[in-house]
Amino acid sequence: MSAIDYSERIPNNVNLSEDRALQRALEHWQPNYLQWWRDMGPDGAMNHDVYLRTAINVTPEGWANFGHVKMPDYRWGIFLAQQEPDRKVNFGESRGTVAWQEVPGEHRANLRRMIVTQGDTEPASVEQQRHLGLTAPSNYDLRNLFQINVEEGRHLWAMVYLLHKYFGRDGREEAEALLQRNSGDQDKPRILEAFNEETPDWLAFYMFTYFTDRDGKFQLNALSESGFDPLSRTCRFMLTEEAHHMFVGESGIARVINRTCQIMKEFGIEDPEQVRAKGVIDLPTIQRYLNFHFSVTIDLFGADQSSNAAAFYSSGLKGRYEETRRDDDHMLKNQHYRILEVVNGALVEKEVPMLNSLNEVLRDDFIRDSVAGVGRWNRVIEKAGLAFRLVTPHKAFNRHIGSFADFRISPDGNLISEAEWEANLRNWLPSETDRLFVASLMGRVIEPGKMANWIAPPPVGINRQPIDFEYVRFN
Ligand SMILES: [Fe+2]
Ligand SMILES: [Fe+2]
Repeated sequence: MSAIDYSERIPNNVNLSEDRALQRALEHWQPNYLQWWRDMGPDGAMNHDVYLRTAINVTPEGWANFGHVKMPDYRWGIFLAQQEPDRKVNFGESRGTVAWQEVPGEHRANLRRMIVTQGDTEPASVEQQRHLGLTAPSNYDLRNLFQINVEEGRHLWAMVYLLHKYFGRDGREEAEALLQRNSGDQDKPRILEAFNEETPDWLAFYMFTYFTDRDGKFQLNALSESGFDPLSRTCRFMLTEEAHHMFVGESGIARVINRTCQIMKEFGIEDPEQVRAKGVIDLPTIQRYLNFHFSVTIDLFGADQSSNAAAFYSSGLKGRYEETRRDDDHMLKNQHYRILEVVNGALVEKEVPMLNSLNEVLRDDFIRDSVAGVGRWNRVIEKAGLAFRLVTPHKAFNRHIGSFADFRISPDGNLISEAEWEANLRNWLPSETDRLFVASLMGRVIEPGKMANWIAPPPVGINRQPIDFEYVRFN
């Protein structure tokens, strides 16, 4: 594996210099990208020196090189995982044939749509998080935010490379449009609803990186199974970066819980108002944020029954999570899956063709993975000797997409009336008061090693550096 040549304007391991037309097209897109970064990227942070990891090659040793960099000078590049010799299409109707190095004409529109949808989420999250640097709880956390932001920017590059290289003029137009839509914009919003929500505070940020970046993990994993080999290789490399994003979320929430429990024990208090008076986030508020981010994120998997999902699978474009590790026929034609639906005022299981339920299959895989981390958060509370437990809400709760969208369903999965919903809403989802309280705690802490009052320090630093390392230097 050759190292990435940083003397090139666009670092890459795809022999970009051998394809002059493509190189020119991307060099034309690059200044527009940088303009977008200045306009919509991290607010007020262009001059900071940030201790970032940058990929210099895609081997396990080489993809994480650390050093202080100013973010506009970060070298966003195009990196694909190594090509597997003799890779095949591993599922669907073309199963067993040689994986495609070019886009099959009949799948062009669907593939482009999948790449654009994935690509759109990447800059969206940078936009959603752009004000958070102003209220970071520590120098360490500020660095992690910026690391995630530059990598989401690189993920946009990854998708734009595919659009430019394989989709001609349409691809170039889509690449421009990816810089023109903006999160929450009235006229030109991002494609998916969860990516138009605000990430107003750091509790929301940790929940977002725990749940919504995990949606990214599952989508990228399913796309990394694609019969279209360049998409597979691109997504495989993106997954190595995604792991850190979810780590920031999981460890961030664990540190918030840790600090809250410490105060509750120290003062012998459990009442949320008393806990708040000590300047930490009460556990019921953390539960409500969890309910919100979980429910909004599982909507991202789409309708529970979808003929598009079936078509993407049968045509070999998008597999299941860990497709090649499953031992079934990878065609799924006569298989069934149990989904939930509302019948006569109750949630009942129904058996449907599996091919049409692949969104639900991926959502259920995501839910299993999410629940595991919530269990780890509960162990922090348990260790402190407190009785409170966080609960992952029922998957039908607070849905806006799929068959549950027309019903009111409680976090424990019971169909309820509109009146019951209204009466309980402030116990289930963050209220304006909750958000104002959390916002009131947010203040910038930048002195190395210091933490805001509402969060515990991390157990270890980044890249074996001490916790009080100067991760971000201010100029
Ligand atoms: Fe990403
Ligand atoms: Fe991510």
